[in-house]
Amino acid sequence: MPAPRLLILGSNGGLGRALVRKLSTVHEITAWTRAELDLEQSETIAAKLARCDFDVLLNPAGLTSPDACETQPENARLANTAGPQALAEACQTRGARMIHFSTDHVFSGEPHDLWHEHDATRPVNLYGRTKREGEKAVLKACADALVARVSWLFGPDKPSHPDQMIERALQTDDLSAVSDKASVPTSTADVCEWTAHLIANPASGILHLCNSGSASWHSWAEAALAIASWLGLPVKTTLVRPILLAELTQLRAARPLRTVMSNEKLQTLLGGEIRDWSTALEDYLTEKHRPR
Ligand SMILES: NC(=O)c1ccc[n+]([C@@H]2O[C@H](COP(=O)([O-])OP(=O)(O)OC[C@H]3O[C@@H](n4cnc5c(N)ncnc54)[C@H](OP(=O)(O)O)[C@@H]3O)[C@@H](O)[C@H]2O)c1
Repeated sequence: MPAPRLLILGSNGGLGRALVRKLSTVHEITAWTRAELDLEQSETIAAKLARCDFDVLLNPAGLTSPDACETQPENARLANTAGPQALAEACQTRGARMIHFSTDHVFSGEPHDLWHEHDATRPVNLYGRTKREGEKAVLKACADALVARVSWLFGPDKPSHPDQMIERALQTDDLSAVSDKASVPTSTADVCEWTAHLIANPASGILHLCNSGSASWHSWAEAALAIASWLGLPVKTTLVRPILLAELTQLRAARPLRTVMSNEKLQTLLGGEIRDWSTALEDYLTEKHRPR
């Protein structure tokens, strides 16, 4: 049987680029940026999808900055809720599957050990609220849809917290990072592996796609700097001053404090253990900074 044909949206984004690169080794892919399909133009979506041959739609696109969502609430609603709903309706009509990427920001962040797929959601910002409404709309409109929640992505296609901290440590030894906010740093390379498995072995409903373990922005930063130092990069320090989230007064959107997700359900589907974020981070930084 030929591999399912994929339509990947948001193909200029961090996860979108990684998905296109990884999955194009096996699948025939149509990759669309915002220029080809704008989620805010939900009335155009059905006609655009009708003109494309695909079996599975992957949607990592959306308005992903919590602060931008606060200042542009209507854009956030359209990109994160109405657009995904129109995608799901079109997938249902043509009998296609859909994997829609979502976020740990659907959780309140109250003290909690691990957030599971069945746990109640209570977003604290507009990003989380519009993404949660998008999840519900997608699952209602498309029977076979999978909502894949990811957290704290890192990888080669978009600089994220560890890259930024290493860049800063090459310039200064005066670094700080928030220590009272926790989640699971997750490798985009691993998300691509899991997505490949989920395309071959369909699942529906909600699923958490994250590495194992947990971190704060502070411990994530120190882990990255320790690896950078070990790799021989001339970082000026491997120590980061811990600060509290409340000290970041320039943030517009409220941030949930603890959104560490369980990946138990994913481990069961994969039939094996999922590696810790720190091992994945070491692999990523080693490859990125390998002498060429
Ligand atoms: N990065 C993380 O740490 C993280 C954490 C939790 C969840 N997630 C979720 O994971 C998914 C992928 O995240 P990411 O980091 O890859 O995001 P990203 O780099 O911000 O990429 C999002 C993409 O969506 C596109 N986009 C924005 N508005 C659009 C619209 N109206 N129509 C069509 N495309 C639009 C953007 O294009 P333009 O740049 O051209 O606007 C961008 O290419 C998202 O669903 C996000 O909510 C990410």
